[in-house]
Amino acid sequence: MQPSGHSPTRGPPGAPPKARARARAGRAWLATAAVLLLAAALWWRHEAALSTALVQAYPDAIPGDPALEGWALARGQSAYARHCSSCHGAAGEGDRRRGVPDLRDGDWLYGSGRVLEIERVVLYGIRTANSKGWRLSVMPGYARPEPDKQYRLEPLRPSEIDDVTEYLMKLQGQPYDEPIAARGALVYRNQARGLCWDCHGENAHGNPAIGAPRLTDSIWLYGDGSRAAIRRSIAEGRAGTCPAWVGKLDAATIRALAVWVHHLSARAPATTHTSASP
Ligand code: HEC
Ligand code: HEC
Repeated sequence: MQPSGHSPTRGPPGAPPKARARARAGRAWLATAAVLLLAAALWWRHEAALSTALVQAYPDAIPGDPALEGWALARGQSAYARHCSSCHGAAGEGDRRRGVPDLRDGDWLYGSGRVLEIERVVLYGIRTANSKGWRLSVMPGYARPEPDKQYRLEPLRPSEIDDVTEYLMKLQGQPYDEPIAARGALVYRNQARGLCWDCHGENAHGNPAIGAPRLTDSIWLYGDGSRAAIRRSIAEGRAGTCPAWVGKLDAATIRALAVWVHHLSARAPATTHTSASP
């Protein structure tokens, strides 16, 4: 077929039609590539600027800055799905069989749920090898011959473990036996043997400065709050660990994760169970 002289697109004058079409395609390709490159460069600049702004911001001020928070949430949500959901659950619901806390309930083992405090956990972890991580206390195993080296506690007899378990049932507002719970209260307050009050507080309200949970609410880190589950914590001891991410994830991702976890709890209805200092 003869090429039409009125073709709306032109190749080099006198060139055969195929070469003109190729040249046309080449120009279109170059233009598209240039636009894409420019868009990528602009996107990259935008991302880099937000990433820097996120790292430079005061952590607790980020939730008050919608643009920065929005960007952090998108990044934090995907990092959470990759690095945290295997333990903490897809929605942050935790896993009481493994002692993984619910991150949505506004009840904090450590601190009070500020972005700054959450970020510290994400950076350095809990009971990890990192010396900046939380590791001020573990739950002694009172049925062991040596419940806690640091505290030099004596083990409790099985009947004493039953007694203090009953006392916790009372504090929970669950059905309990008063004479047994009264004996348990003495174990709870004992200076040398139980020493429970030293970590969990005089009124068992917990201590967020050392990660000792409140024992008077229905929020359990381990088990379902049954006698058997409570007894097991006391007899065997507990020392949950959360990994440290410093050096594994970049600073902006770690901060974005803290913003995401803060958002998870801020979205949940406020509970009255928030740990308070004793
Ligand atoms: C291997 C399982 C595991 C992974 C992975 C994990 N965590 Fe944890 N995390 C835990 C456990 C267990 C605890 C409770 C530790 C304790 O008993 O003190 C915890 C505690 C926490 C706490 C403290 C909650 C409170 O009530 O004070 C935060 C915050 C947290 N994790 C955030 C994260 C984030 C964010 C990630 C992902 C970057 C993550 N965790 C990954 C197991 C894990
Ligand atoms: C040295 C500090 C310390 C002492 C003493 C101590 N606890 Fe604990 N206890 C903890 C910590 C820390 C945890 C949380 C462990 C974890 O995060 O894995 C805990 C967890 C528990 C739990 C599980 C709570 C839950 O939400 O699942 C129970 C029950 C408990 N302690 C009861 C007691 C009783 C009763 C005594 C005294 C006989 C006692 N504790 C003494 C630090 C202590």
